[in-house]
Amino acid sequence: MTTSDAEILVNQSSPGPDASGAAALSVRGLWKIFGPRADRIIGTPDADLSRADLKEKTGCVVGVKDVSFDVSPGEVFVVMGLSGSGKSTLVRCLTRLIEPTAGEVELGGMDVTSANAAGLRDLRRNQVSMVFQHFGLLPHRQVIDNIAYGLEIRGVGKKERRAKAAEVVDLVGLTGYGSSYPDQLSGGMQQRVGLARALAGDPSMMLFDEPFSALDPLIRRDMQNEVIRLQAELKKTMVFITHDLQEALKLGDRILIMRDGEIVQIGTPDEVVGAPADDYVRDFTSDVPRSHVLTLKWVMRDPRPGDSSEGPVMTSDTIVRAAAQAALASDHPVRVIDDGKLVGIVDDDAILRVVVAEESA
Ligand SMILES: Nc1ncnc2c1ncn2[C@@H]1O[C@H](COP(=O)(O)OP(=O)(O)O)[C@@H](O)[C@H]1O
Ligand SMILES: [Mg+2]
Repeated sequence: MTTSDAEILVNQSSPGPDASGAAALSVRGLWKIFGPRADRIIGTPDADLSRADLKEKTGCVVGVKDVSFDVSPGEVFVVMGLSGSGKSTLVRCLTRLIEPTAGEVELGGMDVTSANAAGLRDLRRNQVSMVFQHFGLLPHRQVIDNIAYGLEIRGVGKKERRAKAAEVVDLVGLTGYGSSYPDQLSGGMQQRVGLARALAGDPSMMLFDEPFSALDPLIRRDMQNEVIRLQAELKKTMVFITHDLQEALKLGDRILIMRDGEIVQIGTPDEVVGAPADDYVRDFTSDVPRSHVLTLKWVMRDPRPGDSSEGPVMTSDTIVRAAAQAALASDHPVRVIDDGKLVGIVDDDAILRVVVAEESA
């Protein structure tokens, strides 16, 4: 794997789960089974069959299998897995673009599962916006009107929606392109229009289904950085689907890893890399430069009497790579201090083990 430093360095401003309570999104026991009489399968022994066995026995395909998780306000929550693992099905169930077979979804305080048609319309128009791989831009409309399209559907007047669209044009780096037509733009620029259109309605939550998968690597990296920048500026809650671990590590505050419709692991980037739940996750993460992802929490030891009190002070969520230079330059080991409390010591060789291991890999 060829991975530049810039590509992998993980998002360090993780808000993580919100201790204060209300989730932006709460999913409980969600199932989607495609096929005849799918709803009769849940709760029977057939539900425990592997995906392949269930298909063989009943003709039904499990898209999503008993999935539960919470997303905090302002969190970037990544869902990752190989093609066919159920990511798109999961994200479409969140707004009932696909009707779940069982389970509950609560989004921004709204019980999506029991919402009526009007409630769902409001949800999709005003609360949640989606960005897909295929931008679905209207070819005969200028960029500005493509961006304003969602507002137009909502019945917002032309002047107001153009003003709002003009605002987001600048926000996503499309300044000067407002009167262009989609086919005059590159793929990356078109995806910026898709992003702007999703932002124009000022949704509280954005859902991304592999939006950058078709883009060239360099443009893709630009767009990832764009998402990180927008997130820092706007603090939207985001659910971001990808099959690419690099992208997941870079964008995600937490990552949900799926296989055959099921959750394999949910964790922060350093947890997924530092403590993979099984071989599937370990395979995914084996090529990752660990020093870019692991934090001091993963390499520190307990303090002992006699430890120097003079070493550099860092918090346990410092990325190893970011700590390495100062740590190795000091004559004393790093003192890891969280909230005023000494929680660990990092010796030089603990840092070197991580850094050297990946250099010889
Ligand atoms: N409408 C459908 N009917 C039957 N099977 C489907 C349908 N949509 C998706 N599937 C199956 O559900 C599984 C998960 O698909 P999907 O959610 O698209 O995965 P991913 O987005 O991770 O690639 C796959 O095995 C797929 O073939
Ligand atoms: Mg998909």
